[in-house]
Amino acid sequence: MTEQERLEIIGHNSSEDDEKIEAAVLVVFPLMQYPLMCGFVLESRRYEGVHFKVYDSKDIQTRKTVGIFQLKMFPNCGSIVVSTGSCIYEPFKGKGIGRELNKLRTRAMSLAGFERIMATVRTDNDIEEHILAANGWKRLSVFDSRYGSQVSLWERVL
Ligand SMILES: CC(C)(COP(=O)(O)OP(=O)(O)OC[C@H]1O[C@@H](n2cnc3c(N)ncnc32)[C@H](O)[C@@H]1OP(=O)(O)O)[C@@H](O)C(=O)NCCC(=O)NCCS
Repeated sequence: MTEQERLEIIGHNSSEDDEKIEAAVLVVFPLMQYPLMCGFVLESRRYEGVHFKVYDSKDIQTRKTVGIFQLKMFPNCGSIVVSTGSCIYEPFKGKGIGRELNKLRTRAMSLAGFERIMATVRTDNDIEEHILAANGWKRLSVFDSRYGSQVSLWERVL
């Protein structure tokens, strides 16, 4: 294989995977049945994975950001996608939106054809750990991170 062929293969695979992730989330988002999500708008941006931003209304002047999340291919493994950077902003916390967006990610990544979705979370984050455990994720391990906190590694079979 020449250097040029190697570079073409690398570039091609990376962009195709991100397109697949983005397309699946954009297809599944309007299908979510949760009533609170009805007035919401989703935007996406492809940059080191795919970043998503959820807004609370279609009016561009008044809309507030409800939350953000990011989906990224596990390096050099086409079967696994990593869920990272998920956050719900005030005053939208505690209304079931984090849970619904978690479901959205697993449904969409299943539709996109991935076999596993993985995530890490600090073990003192009781709410996120609850959402993962209650929605079919399996806690694979717990360890002390190099930043001093304790972290758990999770996967969900899709
Ligand atoms: C974690 C986070 C995404 C959750 O989003 P949210 O919309 O506020 O959460 P939801 O309302 O959807 O879900 C809350 C769930 O946690 C449960 N819960 C609430 N307080 C809890 C607590 N102290 N301990 C355990 N479970 C708790 C609720 O009962 C609910 O469970 P249910 O769906 O079974 O009824 C949000 O709090 C956040 O953005 N936190 C800061 C960033 C962050 O931690 N992101 C995750 C990074 S790994």
